[in-house]
Amino acid sequence: MKIVICESVDEAAHAAAEVIIAQVAKNSASRLGLATGSTVEPIYKEVVNLGRLRNISFRAVTTFNLDEYVSVAKEDSYRATMEKLLFSHLDFVSKNTNIPNGASHNLLEEAGRYERLIQAGGIDLQLLGIGRNGHIGFNEPGTPFERSTHVAKLAKATREANTKFFGHSSVMPREAITIGLKTIMSALEIVVVAFGSEKASIVAQAFEGQVVEDVPASVLQRHPRVTVILDRSAAGELQHISRSVSFRA
Ligand code: F6R
Repeated sequence: MKIVICESVDEAAHAAAEVIIAQVAKNSASRLGLATGSTVEPIYKEVVNLGRLRNISFRAVTTFNLDEYVSVAKEDSYRATMEKLLFSHLDFVSKNTNIPNGASHNLLEEAGRYERLIQAGGIDLQLLGIGRNGHIGFNEPGTPFERSTHVAKLAKATREANTKFFGHSSVMPREAITIGLKTIMSALEIVVVAFGSEKASIVAQAFEGQVVEDVPASVLQRHPRVTVILDRSAAGELQHISRSVSFRA
């Protein structure tokens, strides 16, 4: 596991964007796993900047988002968020941008369909944020490491943290379809990003603590190709900083 500590959020977002751009430059038909949330917003902004600057085409890229809320208003959906932040700004082809359908009448079937779609070609590079409770995707604490795509009940902490994305808490969904920890671990390469002091404790637990199902992100310690990109505040509680490298070093 490589840990990259950056001076600022901007620098960290740039570092993460460079990894995504490098992947697409290397393989124009890359299969990317994408996340939503506050952390990835500056990263997508930078992917758009760099993509335009360097004339990188995303036409042949296939994307798979980690998750989608169940029964959410269209404008609050992760589909709408991804269009707004990333897809509409570059030449992504809409049929290649996959997000679970949280409006499906048969959520179990939809979870199975989505898992099969991912496994049909795998994921080359998976981008992840991390919840303050250690979730990745919406795999909340206690989720078995062996789970594939499923319908997840959102933890209270997650609902509280994400209420800010909704008009008022009454419309914050209680469930989501999420790819599983097993699905995440099947990606060839993973980049995890965290910013801010409120993530410092969980970052230390996840990447320097024991690998336990109560801290879902800790499973990433078992993956052979993980890069953790942090700003200084998110790295604040790591004990073994000497193992880390600075992006600008
Ligand atoms: C989002 C997702 C979540 C977020 C996590 C961090 O698709 O799957 O795991 O990455 O909740 O969210 P932020 O970045 O808002 O702190």
